[in-house]
Amino acid sequence: MALTQDEMKQEVAKAAIEYVEAGTIIGVGTGSTANCFIDELAKIKGKIEGTVASSVASADRLKAHGIPVFELNDVNGLSVYVDGADESTHHLHLVKGGGGALTREKIVAAASKKFVCIADESKLVDRLGKFPLPVEVIPMARSLVAREIIKQIGGQPVLREGFTTDNGNIILDIHELDILDPIEVETTLNMITGVVTNGLFAKRPADILLLGTQNGVKTLS
Ligand code: 5RP
Repeated sequence: MALTQDEMKQEVAKAAIEYVEAGTIIGVGTGSTANCFIDELAKIKGKIEGTVASSVASADRLKAHGIPVFELNDVNGLSVYVDGADESTHHLHLVKGGGGALTREKIVAAASKKFVCIADESKLVDRLGKFPLPVEVIPMARSLVAREIIKQIGGQPVLREGFTTDNGNIILDIHELDILDPIEVETTLNMITGVVTNGLFAKRPADILLLGTQNGVKTLS
């Protein structure tokens, strides 16, 4: 019988437990796949010192399981970061931020020695951009940033209505992009005044992608 998308998410979450080093503090991402990972982590919580979460929602879920959650400023570094993605290429360049947690996700990934991305096979693409690219923006810069995006990289920036990030900012989702050079687009967006960060993880891609497929979990690196 064919596996559902949820079953594939659970399989990759289980597989990611192999990358958790005993006695360390690990970074934990945000979203439905990361939630599956948190639930798996609860089963081995005695083996780790604790976690740093990339969102308030994930911190709440971790705490509900009795897993210690630290502030990033209070720890020296993280052994591994485990998180989902909205899109990944075979080069492990990612689009993230569907859940709006992109900035904290980028920070926690940057603080981690290894980034293990977990996703079902629907997320693997040849080229990034079909999933609208999230950009976190300081609220007063919304119109300025939207105009600059159209001028500098194209696409259609759309305000994510009724959404505020954990950092108190807004999200512009850029539709109709075909991202040929993810590193260049990531850099160009970051240079626009008023942009906090964008959902491209290309300068710091994942190190490992655990992909849930109908034929089991595939490891790409
Ligand atoms: C949240 C993210 C998530 O990792 C991404 O949206 C994937 O979510 P899901 O596992 O629910 O498909 O970047 O900001």
